[in-house]
Parts: sequence; C-alpha cells; structure tokens
Amino acid sequence: MIKKLATGIGEYKRPSLLAALFVTLEVGLEVVIPYLMSFIVDRGIRPGNTDNVIIYGCIMIACAMVSLFFGVLSARFAAKASAGFAKNIRSRVFGKVQDFSFYNVDKFSTGSLITRLTTDINFIQMAYMLLIRVAVRAPLMFTVGVIMAMTLNARLALTFVAVVPVLTVAMFILIRFGFPLFERMFKKFDAMNNRVQENLVAIRVVKSFVRESHETAEFRKASSAVQRAQLKAEKVVVFGLPLFMFCMYGCLLAILWFGGKFVISDTMSEGQLSSFIAYVQQILMSIMLIAMILINLVISRASGKRIVEVLDEEPDIADTDADPEKRVRDGSVEFREVSFSYSKSDNYVLNGISFKINAGETVGIIGGTGSAKTSLVQLIPRLYDVQKGEVLVGGASVKSYTLKNLRDAVAMVLQKNVLFTGTIRENLQWGDENATEAEIAAACEIAQADEFIRSFPSGYDTDLGQGGVNVSGGQKQRLCIARALLKKPRIMILDDSTSAVDTATDAKIREGMRKKLSNTTVIIIAQRINSVKEADKIIVLNNGKIDAIGTHQELLAANSIYREVYHSQQKGGE
Ligand SMILES: Nc1ncnc2c1ncn2[C@@H]1O[C@H](COP(=O)(O)OP(=O)(O)OP(=O)(O)O)[C@@H](O)[C@H]1O
Ligand SMILES: [Mg+2]
Repeated sequence: MIKKLATGIGEYKRPSLLAALFVTLEVGLEVVIPYLMSFIVDRGIRPGNTDNVIIYGCIMIACAMVSLFFGVLSARFAAKASAGFAKNIRSRVFGKVQDFSFYNVDKFSTGSLITRLTTDINFIQMAYMLLIRVAVRAPLMFTVGVIMAMTLNARLALTFVAVVPVLTVAMFILIRFGFPLFERMFKKFDAMNNRVQENLVAIRVVKSFVRESHETAEFRKASSAVQRAQLKAEKVVVFGLPLFMFCMYGCLLAILWFGGKFVISDTMSEGQLSSFIAYVQQILMSIMLIAMILINLVISRASGKRIVEVLDEEPDIADTDADPEKRVRDGSVEFREVSFSYSKSDNYVLNGISFKINAGETVGIIGGTGSAKTSLVQLIPRLYDVQKGEVLVGGASVKSYTLKNLRDAVAMVLQKNVLFTGTIRENLQWGDENATEAEIAAACEIAQADEFIRSFPSGYDTDLGQGGVNVSGGQKQRLCIARALLKKPRIMILDDSTSAVDTATDAKIREGMRKKLSNTTVIIIAQRINSVKEADKIIVLNNGKIDAIGTHQELLAANSIYREVYHSQQKGGE
C-alpha cells in the first residue's frame, strides 16, 4: 500500500526533501536554546554578570529567529509537497475510475467513490505533511534531547527512561483498538455520501413527491451514524492526551524532586537543572508528536487502504485480447448462445440468446418492461461482458476490438441518457469533436432537433445547465440522438429514445434515418409497435428469452405476445 501511494510523490520529491532538511536545521537550533539557558543562569545570573546575560540572551534570540525562519521554510515546502502529492493521487484515482466498467462502478457505488476522492485523499494529504515534517522532527528531537540530558546528568535521566515504556504500551493499545473503529467510521461516511448523491441527482423527484422531510430524516439518520462512529473512534483517541500529560507532569515532579536534591548537595548547578527540565520537556513533547503521527497514520491507513482498493481494482472490461489496429468492418451483429447476468452468477437476466442482424438492417426489439431489452443491447458496445456465448460485431467478437474502436462504431442512445453542463454545440461535439456546422445541422435535422434549437434565442450556443436541465424531456432525447448520429456509427442503438417524443416526430426521425443512414444498422427498442412496424425484422423478448423473430406481418400472424400488444395499442390509438 505504502509503495503504491508513494508513487504519488512524483515530481514533488524535491520540496519533500527540502521540507525534511529545513526541519532538521530547525530542530538543530531548537536544542541549542536550553543549553544557552544553563549558561545564562550559571555564568550570568549566579555570579551577577549582566554582560553575560545580555550576550547569551542575544545568541538565544538569534537562534530562535533563525530556527523560526527554517521552520517557516519547511512548512512552506511541506505544504507544497503534500498538496502536490494529493493532487497526483487524486488525478490517478479519477483516471482509474474513468476506466471502470459499469460493473466496477456498481461494485463501489458512486457515493463511496466520492468519499475516496475527497475525504480519504484529504486524510492522506495530512498524513503526508506530518510525515515529512513531524516524523522527521520528533525522532530527531527525541534523540538529541536524550543525548543532551544524558550529558547533563545521566543519573537524573533515568527518571524518564521509566516513563517511555508506559507511553509506548499505551500508544500500541490505542492503535490496536482505534483502527477498526476508524474503518467503520469511513463506511458510515460512504453511506452518507450515497444518500447525498442520490438525493441531489433526483432532487426534482424528491420535490414532486414532497419527500423533503422524509429525505431530511433519512439524511439525519445517516449523518448521526457518522457522528456516532466518529465519537466512538475519537473516544479511544482522547485517552491519549491526558495520559501523556499525566506521564509528563509525573516525570517533571520526579525530576524536580531528585534534581533539587542534587542542587542542594551541589552535584548539579541550577542552570543545569533548568536546561535539563527543558530537554525533558522536549523529549516528552517529541513522544507526544510521535503518538500524534501514529494516530494520524492509523486514520490515514484506513483511507490509504480505500484509495489503493480503487487503484488496484481491475476494470473488468479491458482491451486485453484486442487488436489495436482492428476496425469494425460493417454493421452486422450476431449473438451466439449468449447468457448474461449482472451479478456474474447463475442468475441470468438473458438466457441462450441467438440471432443475426445483417449490416444496414433496421431491427426492432419489443418486450414488456423488465424483459431485458436494455440488457441485451448493452452487450453490443460491450458495456458489460457476457458470461456464456459470444457477441460478434462486424463478423468478429466484440473482445477482439479495442473499446475505443468498438464504441466509435457502435453509438448507443441510452434509455437513461444525460447531457452535460455546457452549450448545445459542446454537447453535440461529444459525438465528434471536429464536426462542422453543416454536419451538426444535418444530424440535428435527422433527429428533428434543428427546429427547436433554432427557436432558442442563442440557438446552438444555448447553455444547457447541469445535466441538461434547460430542455424538455423530448428535446433532450432528440439532442441525445443527434449527438449519437454525429459519431457516424456503423451501428445505431436507440433504447426507448423517442418515448417522450410525439408519434409524428417519432415517425419523422425514423424516416430521416432510413433515408440518410442506409448503410447503418439501426436497432430500435420501443414500447410502441408503430415505432418498429417497418423494421426489417423484429425481435420479441420475453423474460430474458427470445420469443420470436420476424417481420411485422409474420409476427402478427404467428406470435401471440406481439399480437396482443399490437391490438391493445390499436385500441388505445382509436
Ligand atoms: N445494473 C443492474 N444491476 C442488476 N440488475 C439489473 C441492472 N439493470 C437491470 N437489471 C435487471 O435486469 C432485468 C432486465 O432489465 P432491463 O433493463 O434489461 O429491462 P428492459 O427490458 O430494458 O426494461 P424496460 O422496458 O423497463 O426498459 C431486470 O429484472 C432488472 O431488474
Ligand atoms: Mg430498458
């Protein structure tokens, strides 16, 4: 895990090293100060020599100033290094998430991915900052402090030797019990973020169902769960400070007691005792700093683990067997005995599906809701991989193409489609970055979007707002179709893409596609028989299985499901 995260340091090695170097210099000067203190007492105050007090006092001030300067420098470099480190990790995790398949994203949940990209990385950043500053400072201060104290009075130094094991054991216990609690806390964070994300995405639905108070209550629950978990974890940590204070004051008391005796019996000077106390304080302080780092590392270990989990996740759909040069030759599609399940188990959503579509054909898919129409077409651009059988596009397995080449050739207008923040033109250019004005207009004409776009005051430069909130459902669907058309795909899949468009416009869109895209295979999923009536063939799906394949006339004559749907819709139409 450490190794994996350490690669995030990258170009920030230099500031990291500089931060550590300046801390070392800072500590170097800091430890001199108590020593000067003993000079002031023994050579200045005791003999009543004011000059010496002033000289050593000035040296002390100079040391403090320079040490402050080094401290500021090291803080600056540490901030630069840790912010850069976090930036690197963040963009690496984000990049990884972009490679995830639908399956991978479902596995983590989007809320959890958000926590990992934000909260977890913040913890790691803090830990890194501590690591390059405090983790250098504390052991250094400890070692130098011990040496100085030993030189001053070895017998007196034995007192704090007794305290160190007590503190060490206490810290070990804190970490041992603290870690699982922090891990649990992050799980609660995930749950809370999931709620926030779901609520914000669907805020319109929440409002239309007047579910605000319910949602608020649910959020409060999730938020209290975080609070409780946090309190529980912190409860363990809070023992740290009082325990430390207890040890420190106990130690000071012992030193004053024994040291006082030494001073009275004249085996130690007052100056030595006062600087000895200063060193002991430094030593204990450094132990506390070490404890703080350890606690922080415990917290960030949980975070680090969660980040590495994302980095280690293998995108389950990748270009492993692909030939990078291979392009999709034509728009033919073939399913050979395909079975598919979302959970990668025996719980098949699609079962033993076989059919063939020739290049350039128009194919309709009809079936009740939940009959796995969407599941079926998602396999063509390889949004999911099949468990059994094979999907072929252009005469070759979908796995033989790189995802880029395959998905360039297969445009899919998703059932739940989204537009992005930006203008209409920018959104359409997702289909083709270099599309000319004329190409954009032509695609919009086929999709029957040209007219309403032109009616907007800013036309193609109309800003869509986040997720395309500024257009109607039917307009959004037509923009999504135009966006897909701009890819000039060999296969065009429309998953219920005209459900919010009136029948006349729907007919015009199909008409346009038939005329302008005669070489493109078009697969239309629809609820309305009218949308698929003229297709070359129609696939009737029922419960994840193919019930029948044929033309409108054939199915009307031979397939009961199709006939039933047709008649119910005809009646409704009249
Ligand atoms: N991401 C998913 N994870 C797990 N199961 C899923 C997922 N998406 C769909 N399913 C399940 O797969 C089955 C088929 O769903 P699918 O979306 O393919 O149906 P559909 O025919 O497109 O329905 P509709 O007409 O309502 O769009 C359903 O039982 C559904 O519960
Ligand atoms: Mg569907």
